[in-house]
Amino acid sequence: MFDRIAARYDFLNRVLSFGTDIGWRRRALVRAGIERGHAVLDVGAGTGDLSFAAAARGAHVIAIDLSPGMLAVLTRRSSLEQRSRIRTLVGNAEALPLPDASVDRIVTGFTVRNVGDLGRALAEFRRVLRPGGRAVILELSHPPHATFARLYSFYFDRVAPAVADLLSGDREAYRYLPRSLRPFPEAARLAEMLRDAGFTRVAYERLTFGIAAIHVAEV
Ligand SMILES: C[S@@+](CC[C@H](N)C(=O)[O-])C[C@H]1O[C@@H](n2cnc3c(N)ncnc32)[C@H](O)[C@@H]1O
Repeated sequence: MFDRIAARYDFLNRVLSFGTDIGWRRRALVRAGIERGHAVLDVGAGTGDLSFAAAARGAHVIAIDLSPGMLAVLTRRSSLEQRSRIRTLVGNAEALPLPDASVDRIVTGFTVRNVGDLGRALAEFRRVLRPGGRAVILELSHPPHATFARLYSFYFDRVAPAVADLLSGDREAYRYLPRSLRPFPEAARLAEMLRDAGFTRVAYERLTFGIAAIHVAEV
């Protein structure tokens, strides 16, 4: 599915989120505390927004994604300098093609709700992080306030897929959007899953009335 929408992904993202995703990504990068020379893994890198930002901070980035089409857009968007800092790899978050304790930071944006076995992916994050390493997960979430949640659900379940149909002509891909969020754990539960996977110092902050959240977890 992501291969199919790769060419329109960035445009639709900006429209459907009214641009708020840009600020959320910026916030997630601040929380990641990336330093020059860090090895940073971007899981579900997609078209590369987080990878580019990590590379701009002097990191060596491994951009992993299941979709070769999304990674092809990342490569097309990148300058020669960025290409020297970002290695792309087709791979699955549930079985990362990396050795144990090989990266300093993991960043992942809007990916983990798409993963089949989330517990397994979190265990993989834990495995590949070095001692002192940190994972930062930016993902859509469930707004805690009931009235706002109802309003948001109308937008997310009805309006956003209809707008995406109109702009992209890919009805199925954007019907998937609400379907991917419904079974995804609430923010407190995701924090618990991170602890179960062996992370310490797990914290999260809700963004924009809780429609998204950033989880930070350390090894
Ligand atoms: C909504 S996009 C987000 C892309 C990018 N991180 C961003 O912030 O815009 C989700 C990405 O996760 C990838 N993905 C989904 N399941 C995956 C998995 N199990 N392992 C690796 N990547 C996955 C998809 O191919 C897609 O590129």
